[in-house]
Amino acid sequence: PSADALAHAESLIRTVPDYPEPGVLFRDITPLLADAGALRAVIDALIEPFDGGFDVVAGVEARGFLLAGAAATVAGVGMVPVRKAGKLPRPAASVSYALEYARATIEVHDDLAPGTRVLLVDDVLATGGTLAAAHELFAELGVVVVGTAVLMELEALGGRALVHDVHTVFTA
Ligand code: PRP
Repeated sequence: PSADALAHAESLIRTVPDYPEPGVLFRDITPLLADAGALRAVIDALIEPFDGGFDVVAGVEARGFLLAGAAATVAGVGMVPVRKAGKLPRPAASVSYALEYARATIEVHDDLAPGTRVLLVDDVLATGGTLAAAHELFAELGVVVVGTAVLMELEALGGRALVHDVHTVFTA
């Protein structure tokens, strides 16, 4: 994608103060998703470094689904949902991880042929807890994650300490 298209897409990310709680600056990507050119530009930028090197895109519930489904379609591959606990009928692996004041659990099915190369996608890298847990999930299945890509990295939260080699389209 062109620098102009990406700059336009970035300008459509809305920063909402004090949501979902006081002191938090929420990055709302819905205006970007609603713009055809912006959506296509960020999907292209998300998968560009991994072109031809993955067989499926995995996305983390819920906002990761929005990007992973689009990325998979553009790349011509399938999509694997990584879901919050209790949503999948036949979870093959389950990993719990720490949130700020609680714990969360994510799960995944195992319908992948041996050797399938997974590109892991989410919207935001914050503390890194979610993506680190997703990596652990695929490791439990013995599935190879060949790359990790996020739309936006919130650098101040230090997620790279937990998730190495993340490709990020935007940094804040
Ligand atoms: C958000 C975001 C990432 C995660 C990043 O998801 O979509 O998945 O937090 O935070 P971390 O790096 O600190 O783990 P959230 O759990 O709010 O779920 P949602 O996508 O369903 O809104």
